[in-house]
Amino acid sequence: MGPLNADNYQLVRLKNGAYSVRSLAEDETFHPVIGPAAEAEALYVKQLDLRRRAGRLGEFVVWDVGLGAAANAIAVLRATADLPCSLRMVSFDRTRAPLEFALRHSAELGYLAGYDKTARELLDTGRAALARGQWEFRQGDFPQLLRAAIPPAPPPHAILFDAFSPAKNPAMWTAALFSDLHRWLDPRRPCAMPTYSRSTMLRVTLLLAGFFVGIGRATGEKEQTTIAANAPELLAEPLPREWLQRARHSRSAEPLWEPVYRQAHLSAETWEKLRCHPQFRED
Ligand SMILES: C[S@@+](CC[C@H](N)C(=O)[O-])C[C@H]1O[C@@H](n2cnc3c(N)ncnc32)[C@H](O)[C@@H]1O
Repeated sequence: MGPLNADNYQLVRLKNGAYSVRSLAEDETFHPVIGPAAEAEALYVKQLDLRRRAGRLGEFVVWDVGLGAAANAIAVLRATADLPCSLRMVSFDRTRAPLEFALRHSAELGYLAGYDKTARELLDTGRAALARGQWEFRQGDFPQLLRAAIPPAPPPHAILFDAFSPAKNPAMWTAALFSDLHRWLDPRRPCAMPTYSRSTMLRVTLLLAGFFVGIGRATGEKEQTTIAANAPELLAEPLPREWLQRARHSRSAEPLWEPVYRQAHLSAETWEKLRCHPQFRED
């Protein structure tokens, strides 16, 4: 992929009139159906029960994976602005270009309103002070950051996982990536991670990485999404045992062992691991 600058992005107007950002390099729109603010609210803020969970803690740590044009991050800032807790949000991306682009088109995008200065400070200094808490930006290759010997940030209570699709961005959906991600969670700190995909391959990958996995709420774009957690009590609708049979027969269920997209049936070894996952154990 060539250098990413603000010219690699364009504004698109969705059917409902909302504007979203499109990456020309991947030929993908960031929040393609209901738009940035509505999707961030449905998929992350509501699904994570963010206000209730954050409101009960002194400090609430969020990892925002794929800062992009910051629609998800800003939705979290808005949702928690009046809470007494301190928010520590750490955003990850290999590039700052989409947020630079969004800041130039803040009027059309709308969701940045009131947060332009905060986002500008984040890009210029790598951090921005919040009324209560801090927003930080770690620029770099996320899979590589996770492989390092030191944690990329304090263990999160919530992760917003928003990479491009596995076909366009396979390095962000490998088995190794989710195992590394799971490794940095604190088992004593319940953490949930919604993402827009409902694919069998993703769900198998998350289970093998050590997560519990549930059916995520609809977003308008999809009738289902996926939510993973290190604590089963954070899942409203865990995948039932019957789902295993669907995975067994799916033509696209085997995790990506390499950062190269392909589709494959479950291997015998993966099937054995899935069957023995604590989520499906019969007492
Ligand atoms: C769908 S966009 C994220 C949209 C964003 N969450 C928002 O609310 O506007 C996916 C983002 O993932 C980032 N990304 C893709 N591969 C990456 C990698 N290997 N390391 C870090 N970031 C990556 C892209 O640069 C892009 O900004």
